[in-house]
Amino acid sequence: MAKFRLPRNSQIKPGKDHGGPEGPSVRTFEIYRYDPASGENPRVDKYRVDMNDCGPMVLDALIKIKNEIDPTLTFRRSCREGICGSCAMNIDGANGLACLKPVSEIKSATVKIYPLPHMPVVKDLVPDLTQFYAQYASIEPWLKTKTPPPPDRERLQSKEDQERINTPSACILCACCSSACPSYWWNQDRYLGPAALLQAYRWLVDSRDEATGERLDMLEDPFRLYRCHTILNCTKDCPKNLNPGKAIAEIKKMMLERQH
Ligand code: SF4
Ligand code: SF4
Ligand code: FES
Repeated sequence: MAKFRLPRNSQIKPGKDHGGPEGPSVRTFEIYRYDPASGENPRVDKYRVDMNDCGPMVLDALIKIKNEIDPTLTFRRSCREGICGSCAMNIDGANGLACLKPVSEIKSATVKIYPLPHMPVVKDLVPDLTQFYAQYASIEPWLKTKTPPPPDRERLQSKEDQERINTPSACILCACCSSACPSYWWNQDRYLGPAALLQAYRWLVDSRDEATGERLDMLEDPFRLYRCHTILNCTKDCPKNLNPGKAIAEIKKMMLERQH
C-alpha cells in the first residue's frame, strides 16, 4: 500500500477558480484538491453552482460539479440516503454526510469542503480508511459463543436485551466520529477511536455473546480504550445521532465493575 503524507494546513494553497454562473441562487464551493501521487501540495479550487439547477444536498452539488465542470474531482458516494457512510467529509467545518447536508443550511459565504480531518488522503475528498477498518476488525465484531445453540431454534433474546444492541447497531461506520476526535488524531495507531469502541460496546452488551471477559481484556490497555478523555466531539458529529462517547463511558464502567 502506498504511503500517504498528511499535508499541513500551511501547505494548502489557493487553486484554480473554475468560474461558472452568477446570481442570487449561485453558491461558491471551495473544495480541497490533493493528489499525493503528483508530488504537489494540496490546493483549494473554487466552483460556482446555480442551486436552482441542482439538487438540494451538498452531494448533489458535488455530482453536478464532477459531471459538468471538473471530472477530475474525486469523492466517494453510493446510496445517497445516509445508509452507506461513504460520502463522509468535512463540510463547513464539521464532519457529516454530504448526501444528508442541505446546502441551504450552510450560512457561510462559501461552502468549504475538505476530506475527513487527520486521515491520510487517497485523493481529494477520499480518505484512506485502511486503519479505521482494521481497528473495527480488531474488536472481532461477530457473535462469540461457548455453549451450543438450542437444538430446535436460534438463540433468542428478550425485547429489552435486543433494544440494548439496536442503537449501536445503527452505526454505518462512516468515520465522522473518529476523525473528529482529538485523542484519535494524535494516537490513531494505538487508540481504537469512538467508532470501533461503539462497536465493541455493541458486542459487550449483546446478551447472547459469551466472550465478555476476553473482549474487556482486549480493551484493558492505556491506549486502546483509555485515551478517550470524554471530549464528546464524536457524539456531536455523528450523522446518525448515536452516542459513541456514552458507550465508551459505559465500557469504562464495566471495567471498574469487574474489578470489584
Ligand atoms: S468522547 Fe472520547 S472518543 Fe469521543 S471525541 Fe472525546 S475523546 Fe474522542
Ligand atoms: S458512530 Fe456515528 S459517526 Fe461514528 S462511525 Fe458510526 S455512524 Fe459514523
Ligand atoms: S452516499 Fe451513502 S451515506 Fe451518503
